[in-house]
Amino acid sequence: MKQGQYYLTTPIYYVNAAPHIGHAYTTIAAETIARLQRMKGLDVVLTSGTDEHGTKVERAAQAQGKTPRAFVDLISNEFRAQWQKLDLRIDRFQRTTSPEHAKLVNELFEACRANGYIYKGSYTGMYAVVSEAFVNDAKPGDVDPETGKPYEEVTEENYFFKLSAFTDRLLALYEENPDFIGPEIRRNEVLAFVKGGLADLSITRTSIKWGIPVEADPSHVFYVWFDALTTYISAVAGEDRWPADLHLIGKEILRFHAVYWPAFLMAAGWPLPKRVFAHGWLLFENDKMSKSRGNIVRPSPIADVMGVDALRYFLLREIVFGQDGSFSFDALVGRYNSDLANGLGNLASRTLSMLAQYRDSTIPEPSSHTAIAHVAETAAASALAYFNASDFSKGLEQVWSIISAADKYIVELAPWKLAKLTDDAAQKLLSETLYTAAEALRIVCVLISPILPKSAQAIWSQLGYTGRVEDEKVGSLKWGGLPGNQKISSIAAVFPRLDVKDTVKKMVELEGAEKSRQAALMGVSPAPDAPSVATTTPVAPIADTISIDDFSKVDLRVGLVKSAEPVKGADKLLHLNVDIGEAEPRTIVAGIALAYKPELLIGRKVVIVANLQPRKLRGLTSQGMIVAASLEGGSPVLASFLEEVPIGARLK
Ligand code: ME8
Ligand code: MG
Repeated sequence: MKQGQYYLTTPIYYVNAAPHIGHAYTTIAAETIARLQRMKGLDVVLTSGTDEHGTKVERAAQAQGKTPRAFVDLISNEFRAQWQKLDLRIDRFQRTTSPEHAKLVNELFEACRANGYIYKGSYTGMYAVVSEAFVNDAKPGDVDPETGKPYEEVTEENYFFKLSAFTDRLLALYEENPDFIGPEIRRNEVLAFVKGGLADLSITRTSIKWGIPVEADPSHVFYVWFDALTTYISAVAGEDRWPADLHLIGKEILRFHAVYWPAFLMAAGWPLPKRVFAHGWLLFENDKMSKSRGNIVRPSPIADVMGVDALRYFLLREIVFGQDGSFSFDALVGRYNSDLANGLGNLASRTLSMLAQYRDSTIPEPSSHTAIAHVAETAAASALAYFNASDFSKGLEQVWSIISAADKYIVELAPWKLAKLTDDAAQKLLSETLYTAAEALRIVCVLISPILPKSAQAIWSQLGYTGRVEDEKVGSLKWGGLPGNQKISSIAAVFPRLDVKDTVKKMVELEGAEKSRQAALMGVSPAPDAPSVATTTPVAPIADTISIDDFSKVDLRVGLVKSAEPVKGADKLLHLNVDIGEAEPRTIVAGIALAYKPELLIGRKVVIVANLQPRKLRGLTSQGMIVAASLEGGSPVLASFLEEVPIGARLK
């Protein structure tokens, strides 16, 4: 790592979910920090990427009838496309399936082994499939609270990493480098965890195929965290970049970054990153947004309707970085209108239009004896200090204090009145007032450029600059930088006011389309919206009691949907071919066309009643009935399984 460089990372995201606004949150924050460091004159590299190995991915690919390779290519590209769509500049995009990565993971392993920190052992434990981790205190039968699925008992021969040997060295690291973990509250949690003592970690698997082979013992593949964390180095392999200045992550993966990762590196004798910062969770309707909870918002509809800057601004202004915060469409448009349209947008358009009207579109000579000069310089320094500490919301508050001071100043000096007076003193004061407003705007543009890059550039160009605002140096913001006599260019509103209802409606509509597109990409059918039935509506009465023999007459089977198409002339019916392990798939006609798109059903496992008398419907003979849940008048929801289940299995 050379002087003058800055290297930061986002997590590498799992390819078992399509990108959502939670991933965008970290990536936007990281890209903002990258921009800020660049404007401080540093040579910056930002990496992101995808985490593509492990059971979950193997299963997701299988469920879609794809090879793991084809599946991970598809989803990794989707992440990259999303970052492009959001105009996020990612300098290196690393995939755990890349050859240089596999090489580096083996090098790390060998370095740890050479120093005596790797041994072979056998392990039996309860394993959480979704988080890909053994759960220390779980017993057979326990359920993973993250997912509601039971843990699986797993025994296998593993290579172990002697994490237990690092307790004291890790505590010394945190002690000597108080900035190693941020924010403070998270640092304290890690300290308490490590003080409690550390157990050794299993770092390889023999039960998984889809992983990086251990070169020295190819029956093993590396386990996901040993593999994943190493991308931070392999992403810049062959460059003189490591160690990273900052790993930006969400709080749920802090332990892996602040405990495992430095321990792996210490064991290998490799340099440690300088800082790990764990931000909070983005909540939606008071719950953590996540794929397993199904309450996901996607970023691209917001970008399409409101622009990427509106999203960036909201995420970094509304939520205190490091704490949890809520996302809502209403709050997003509300903030946009109050801060961007009425605040910054208004200052820009009134300043520029007065320059056009009273000064022939020319910036007056610089003037410094204005109270605003001091306010602006002080607030700018303070904003920068907050930005440097990743406290974006406080930093933006400081920037907006410059905007309000300038607004207030314009109202007090009333340039529109001065313009009517012809004496020299009034005209001089008018020039000073307009210079002051324009110079305040210039300073604001430079400060907001990392967060609102497009809008800052738009205002910058309207102020008459031909270059890029991001080439300005943010460290030396002094009053008076705007050159007198500069011609402003044509004026256009940067943040037109938006109608809240209308804008939210547009985004929600696009969101629905994006959800279906991503679902098709992931090869799953999107859950239809829950039927909205008032809680007071009585559910249908329970049917008469039957004997177990009666029940065993019903033969329910697991089937795989091989094909699905609409039935001509019947808008509620779908014609399905369902494989239940017999010689031929069965024809099943099901009344689910309003709830399910046929193409999304293909490859899905369903439950059918297999011994029902065949029935003719629209010229087709339906050889069974598909099992679905619904309330009276509500849309049907197909019965399905959380775990893998073989075709033809009987339900009893
Ligand atoms: O954990 N709020 O990948 P992942 C805030 N592959 N941030 C969120 C979020 C939310 N609701 N949802 C996701 C993994 N994130 C591993 C990481 S790193 C070597 C391996 C962001 O796809 C946040 O940064 O589950 C979080 O840590 C990350 O996405 C988790 O992404
Ligand atoms: Mg996760």
